[in-house]
Amino acid sequence: MTARFRLEPLGPGHDRNTFSCGVAALDSYLAGLAGQDIKRRVSACYVACEVTSGKVAGFYTLAASSVPLHDLPPSLTKRLPRYPSVPVARVGRLAIDMAFQGRKLGGALLADAAVRSARSEAAVFALIVDAKDEGAAAFYRHHGFEPFGGNPLQLVGPLQRFLQAAG
Ligand SMILES: CC(C)(COP(=O)(O)OP(=O)(O)OC[C@H]1O[C@@H](n2cnc3c(N)ncnc32)[C@H](O)[C@@H]1OP(=O)(O)O)[C@@H](O)C(=O)NCCC(=O)NCCS
Repeated sequence: MTARFRLEPLGPGHDRNTFSCGVAALDSYLAGLAGQDIKRRVSACYVACEVTSGKVAGFYTLAASSVPLHDLPPSLTKRLPRYPSVPVARVGRLAIDMAFQGRKLGGALLADAAVRSARSEAAVFALIVDAKDEGAAAFYRHHGFEPFGGNPLQLVGPLQRFLQAAG
């Protein structure tokens, strides 16, 4: 995967208008709002760019967040101090262009989000994701995420799992 795609911050050189993942709201976010969110520092956006064509094959957004400690599964928090909340990085949106789906790119973007979060100079305990529907939640569960806070579309995954896989 990595040889064919570059994983990099969304920038002015990327064509955002031809991206089509099958979910109009995600396509129009990339085409319209992603750049403004980056400028306003409310969300970062990273893309997988096909090396040969320069095409944007996938993207995800990443932002700092925090969650109440008592919302998280006890299996994740049993060794943590009893602070009221823990710092996390939120993958608010993640999508792969239909032409590139089913090639493990979605999993690679999740791993990239974990690596960037772990590299952050501000502490990040875990990744959380917002799934748009049950199908998306199944994708995240497949990658080891589990629902938390009583919302089946909000899931958490420890960074370690992805960092080990990324080497
Ligand atoms: C969901 C999506 C991100 C998956 O990306 P992808 O690159 O096609 O998926 P991958 O090739 O990385 O899949 C990797 C693994 O996840 C599994 N998987 C993929 N989609 C799945 C789903 N909906 N439910 C359960 N497992 C799923 C694959 O079977 C594969 O399993 P394997 O590693 O055991 O072979 C992509 O299809 C997409 O962008 N869909 C439209 C937008 C969307 O739903 N975004 C979700 C976040 S809101």
